[in-house]
Amino acid sequence: MRWKLPKTAIYASMVATTGGVAYLTKDYLGGTKYEGKEDLTDKIVIVTGANSGIGEATTLELAKRNARIIMACRDMEKCEMVRRNIVLDTKNKYVYCRKCDLASQESVRKFVTQFKKEFDNLHILINNAGVMRCPKSYTEEGIEMQLGVNHMGHFLLTNLLLDVLKASAPARIVNLSSAAHRRSKINMKDLNSENDYDAGRAYAQSKLAIIIFTRELASRLKGTNVTVNAVHPGIVDTNITRHMSVYTNFFTRIFLKPFAWPFIKAPRHGAQTVLYAALDPSLANVSGCYFQNCETKEVSEEAKSDDMAKWLWKVSEKWTKLNVA
Ligand SMILES: NC(=O)c1ccc[n+]([C@@H]2O[C@H](COP(=O)([O-])OP(=O)(O)OC[C@H]3O[C@@H](n4cnc5c(N)ncnc54)[C@H](OP(=O)(O)O)[C@@H]3O)[C@@H](O)[C@H]2O)c1
Repeated sequence: MRWKLPKTAIYASMVATTGGVAYLTKDYLGGTKYEGKEDLTDKIVIVTGANSGIGEATTLELAKRNARIIMACRDMEKCEMVRRNIVLDTKNKYVYCRKCDLASQESVRKFVTQFKKEFDNLHILINNAGVMRCPKSYTEEGIEMQLGVNHMGHFLLTNLLLDVLKASAPARIVNLSSAAHRRSKINMKDLNSENDYDAGRAYAQSKLAIIIFTRELASRLKGTNVTVNAVHPGIVDTNITRHMSVYTNFFTRIFLKPFAWPFIKAPRHGAQTVLYAALDPSLANVSGCYFQNCETKEVSEEAKSDDMAKWLWKVSEKWTKLNVA
């Protein structure tokens, strides 16, 4: 007697196989994985924008390694929801939510004051938060939103934390930039995009500013045992496209996204190069670099100008009132 499989079993097995192949393809295309298994007990980490996307995935991975993590977020409700899940998932109860809105310099300053009251050390600072292609808008201080949040907010935050980072050395700073920096130039005549605002251009400029800041900060930090590097996480499926109707409309979500799905990284894949920059022992003395797929990549020519770095640092100091008590 010959066995005959019921049709439903055949269909179920076809669906399972297709699903399995799709999952493995996505995992493979997700890029290099960071395999380090460091134990971060007693290490203190700040992750900005930790309640979503790459920041959330990074926080989860660091929590699995027993770090004490401060999730620096602007929306405490969203932050608390994500924190609770991470604590449940990892059984690491040392994950905290603290308010830090990078579109408000007062909020950044308050965050730092509070942090310094609560913690004596800071070993890793991950400047992850970001906003992309938003409509023309301004931070509390009147800085164009993408430049203000992505670069100026993190510039202020980092500088205010440098004393603790130096005192906790070895320490690392990781700045989330983007391959979009390659499309950009710093507009010295209209840095704030007052005369001519283009959402894509302003995003790319902010990400270029982050690399220029990274390189200048690295040279200022020589000899301190505090390193700073920038990262492009890849194209990652997160909420970063929230202002781009072309990605969020019904047609794209239903008909195009399934085809693009294997080629777009999941947040946990997007977090791999961030983890590499933050943890890999081989990078202990590496500073001022730009990483993609867990390896060093050249930055654009624009990003290499030392004169531009000095100019941008001066402007950033002025716009963030860094040296005003
Ligand atoms: N996804 C990609 O393909 C890609 C590619 C290259 C670079 N990046 C960079 O990767 C980083 C992480 O982005 P993502 O893709 O994970 O996007 P995401 O899911 O949108 O996460 C961005 C995070 O930044 C926070 N944020 C935005 N404005 C803020 C502000 N004013 N103050 C404090 N936090 C603020 C968001 O908080 P809310 O949830 O409250 O809005 C959110 O937690 C960004 O710097 C982005 O530019 C992403």
